[in-house]
Amino acid sequence: MSSKIFYFSGTGNSLAVARELSKNLSDKGSIIPLSIYRNEETAQIDTDVLGLVFPVHFMNIPDIVKCFIKKLTFKSNPYIFAIATCNGTSGASLIELNKCLDRKGKVLSSGFVIYMPGNALVTPDDIEIERLKNYKPKVTEISTTINNRSTNKIDEKDSLKTYILSAICKSLGKRLYLTPKNVSYTSQCVGCGICKKVCHLNNIEMINKRPHWGNECSTCLACFHWCPKKAVKGGKMLNKRGRYHHPQISIEDMELKIKLESATWRKS
Ligand SMILES: Cc1cc2nc3c(=O)[nH]c(=O)nc-3n(C[C@H](O)[C@H](O)[C@H](O)COP(=O)(O)O)c2cc1C
Ligand code: SF4
Ligand code: SF4
Repeated sequence: MSSKIFYFSGTGNSLAVARELSKNLSDKGSIIPLSIYRNEETAQIDTDVLGLVFPVHFMNIPDIVKCFIKKLTFKSNPYIFAIATCNGTSGASLIELNKCLDRKGKVLSSGFVIYMPGNALVTPDDIEIERLKNYKPKVTEISTTINNRSTNKIDEKDSLKTYILSAICKSLGKRLYLTPKNVSYTSQCVGCGICKKVCHLNNIEMINKRPHWGNECSTCLACFHWCPKKAVKGGKMLNKRGRYHHPQISIEDMELKIKLESATWRKS
């Protein structure tokens, strides 16, 4: 048996979940950042199990995850599972993901939502602590379903209202949080380049030791949250909140994951 878990993560929540899950899978599974396929035409799957772990963005799956699914080609007929991490409102993320898979002639065997601390809207401190304590037992439960190759019923509503809300949330939300137009750095910037290192879309270029943002942004907010000088600014809502990242994920994890796993993937 072989499993591959593809993840996308801005502040480490989804990466922490993917790591915890791989420990609990019968074959441990390899964890791969799906962003390494950004410039590839296809992503070939030849394993028995295919997993997708990602954050909910605007009650939906991030565009980069949709693009990744479009690129999938299958040499095997894998059991497919997905875990969406979010701050309490998954919208129709898993239903949408299942629709993307359906276009590839595949079906989501099991789908799960895990509540984690929010990196856009703020989660109250007591709830944040509780979620950081509770996600591991939840992942253990999920791994039993996956190891048994069981299917589950996706607990989301496929209603027009959800899609309209998601679209409104996306068009307003991007402006309130971060867009290529409103993102900038303040005089606190020391030119360390960490914002560039954690950007899985390679959307930041350092010119004369200062960051310059391109248009390939996924609004993951990694550059905002990981900047050690709190020098990255965006829209009104974003600038009001504090920085967050998962306590067990480091800058090196965010950065190294891309390099090491990219190398592993290229060898296979
Ligand atoms: C642009 C953006 C939009 C988000 N939209 C939602 C949402 O609609 N519902 C929700 O519950 N959480 C939402 N979140 C919160 C994240 O889904 C949540 O914090 C997630 O665990 C972050 O995972 P990561 O650290 O792996 O990126 C949003 C976060 C971002 C950055
Ligand atoms: S991480 Fe912050 S301090 Fe470092 S280069 Fe980027 S904006 Fe400047
Ligand atoms: S520019 Fe910032 S918000 Fe946009 S993809 Fe890169 S790290 Fe994420």
